[in-house]
Amino acid sequence: MKELYNDSYLKKSTEFINHVKQESYKILNFNNQDVILEIGCGNGYDSIELAKKVLPTKGRVIGLDVDLDLVETSKKNAHTAACTNIEFIVGDAEKLPFEDNYFSIIRAERVFQHLKNPLIVFKEALRVLKPGGQLVLVETDWPGMNIYLKDFSLEEKIIHTLTHKLLVNGNASRTLLSYYIDLNVSNVEMKVFPVLVNEYKIANELVKFDHILEAGKTNNILTEKDIDEWNNNTSFLIKHNLFNLTANLIIFSGNKP
Ligand SMILES: C[S@@+](CC[C@H](N)C(=O)[O-])C[C@H]1O[C@@H](n2cnc3c(N)ncnc32)[C@H](O)[C@@H]1O
Repeated sequence: MKELYNDSYLKKSTEFINHVKQESYKILNFNNQDVILEIGCGNGYDSIELAKKVLPTKGRVIGLDVDLDLVETSKKNAHTAACTNIEFIVGDAEKLPFEDNYFSIIRAERVFQHLKNPLIVFKEALRVLKPGGQLVLVETDWPGMNIYLKDFSLEEKIIHTLTHKLLVNGNASRTLLSYYIDLNVSNVEMKVFPVLVNEYKIANELVKFDHILEAGKTNNILTEKDIDEWNNNTSFLIKHNLFNLTANLIIFSGNKP
C-alpha cells in the first residue's frame, strides 16, 4: 500500500484538495495551550499548517505516522518551515502511545481508508482525547466517485476494485458516521466538498487507474473486454476533452462526551 501514499503522491493530492484541508482547519475549536494530534500525518503538511498558521501561540502539534520515511520527511519539512511547536513520531494508530484524556483536538485525513481495524483506531482516538475534545476526520468518498463513463456497470467495477481490493477500508466514508453515533460523540457534523479533476494524466496519478485495472483483472472483477472498453472510452474522452473525475471529500467532526 505504501506506493499509494508516498511524499510525491501527497504533494500532488494536496494541490487538488487544499481547499478541503483549509475548511477542515476552520472548524477546529481552539483554546489557548491546545495539544493537537494529527494521526497518519503523512509528509507533515497539515501538522505544519496547523502549528504555523492556525494554532494560537501556546499550542503545539504532534504528528504520528506508522511510516518511518514519512515521519523523517515531516521532520525535514517542519525544519524547512522553521516550525518549532511541533513534533513527529513513528507509531501505530491502533495503539497510540499517549495517556488517556491528553489531546484537545485530534485530526486524521484520508487515513481510515487504509486501516485494517478502523473501529479500534476510532476508540483509541477517543481514549486519548480530553472530554469535550474535538475529533475531526476527513475521508474521500471513493464509493461515490464519478468517472462519467457511458457504461455505468464498468464504472461500478472500477470503483468496486478500488474500494474492495486496493484499499484496505475503501468504504470508510460510509462507516465513520456510525462510529461517531454509536460511541455517543456529541455535536456530530458532516460537511461535503467536491473535487474535480479533468485531466486524465493527473486523475491517474491520484486514483492510480493502472493499479486498479491490474487488481481488477487479477481478482476476476474486470475482463479483458472491460479493460479494452476502459481504454477505448478514456481515449475517446481525452481526445474530445470530455474526461472528468469527481469525488467528494467528507469532513466529520464531533466532541468526546
Ligand atoms: C493517504 S495518506 C494521508 C496523509 C495525510 N493525512 C494527508 O492527508 O496528507 C495516509 C497516511 O496514513 C498513514 N497510516 C496508515 N495506517 C496507519 C496506522 N495504522 N497508524 C498510523 N498511520 C497510518 C500512512 O502511513 C499515510 O501517511
